[in-house]
Amino acid sequence: MPLVTSAEMFKKAYDGGYAIGAFNVNNMEIVQGITEAAQELKSPVILQASAGARKYANPSYLKKLVEAAVIECPDIPIVMHLDHGPDFETCKSCIDNGFTSVMIDASSKPFEENIEITRKVVEYAHAHGVVVEAELGALAGIEDDVKVDAKDSAYTRPEEVEEFVSRTGVDSLAIAIGTSHGAYKFKPGTKPQLRFDILDEIVKKIPGFPIVLHGASSVPQEYVKIINANGGQLVDAIGVPEDQLRQAARSAVCKINIDSDLRLGFTAGIRQTFIEHPELFDPRGYLKPARQNVKDIVKHKIVDVLGSAGKA
Ligand code: G3H
Ligand code: 13P
Ligand code: ZN
Repeated sequence: MPLVTSAEMFKKAYDGGYAIGAFNVNNMEIVQGITEAAQELKSPVILQASAGARKYANPSYLKKLVEAAVIECPDIPIVMHLDHGPDFETCKSCIDNGFTSVMIDASSKPFEENIEITRKVVEYAHAHGVVVEAELGALAGIEDDVKVDAKDSAYTRPEEVEEFVSRTGVDSLAIAIGTSHGAYKFKPGTKPQLRFDILDEIVKKIPGFPIVLHGASSVPQEYVKIINANGGQLVDAIGVPEDQLRQAARSAVCKINIDSDLRLGFTAGIRQTFIEHPELFDPRGYLKPARQNVKDIVKHKIVDVLGSAGKA
């Protein structure tokens, strides 16, 4: 089937109490690892490209890679999404180039400005059959040594979400409830805990509306260990516990963003192969295990965390 928007996917996920995995893509092996896993498990999937990914791979190559995945995976719905679109022009460029979903991330701007930019993107996107994700609140690391008030101010404010959604016409909303990007999400020795109380308040304000969780990697320690046992230096890398991601997936959270875990798996595959086979210099020799790790991780997420297997 051709690329789809996430509208139908999110409705089913909301009603069914599961979430769709949104995985970041940067090269062919990552696209293949993700989509082979989703195809085998008959799971809908979102492939997302950041501005950095587009710069690295070149938008034309990324688009063709995703088109190839669509051909190779005829049984599953696939969304092509812009992750963290920084401005209207980037969103417009992706919409004009066949993306079916874009995120406009104006969350660092004041509330009114965020509304204004988001509404402009929504108008253009909807006129072209594309859906829009926006963000309210800042994804701060909760390891930041800030006072409680300042720390709380980074979380999404439930009293703002209804007005934001109705004035922008946005299709889904990314919120900040204690996750952060990257592999260092929590201070060692502290108990990682997402603010489900804030999520509950948000859901009460906008019942039935799809919520997005960024920064949702769990930083699997088996891959961190492989990396460190093979020359890497990742100290105190800590992610979101999977039981909390499962809880989120059962709730109004319909899209869960995962990038760092794939980076860890990919890096572990390459590092391990280099150490175990120092004679090897064929890129296929070390990219194959890296791709397999991506596939294994995505399968695990779909089956054990997101609950989206068989929902295609
Ligand atoms: O949210 C950020 C994603 O992990 C993408 O990261 O901008 O380095 O491609 P990137
Ligand atoms: P992680 O860094 O936790 O994988 O988050 C990825 C993300 O939110 C992409 O938008
Ligand atoms: Zn993100």
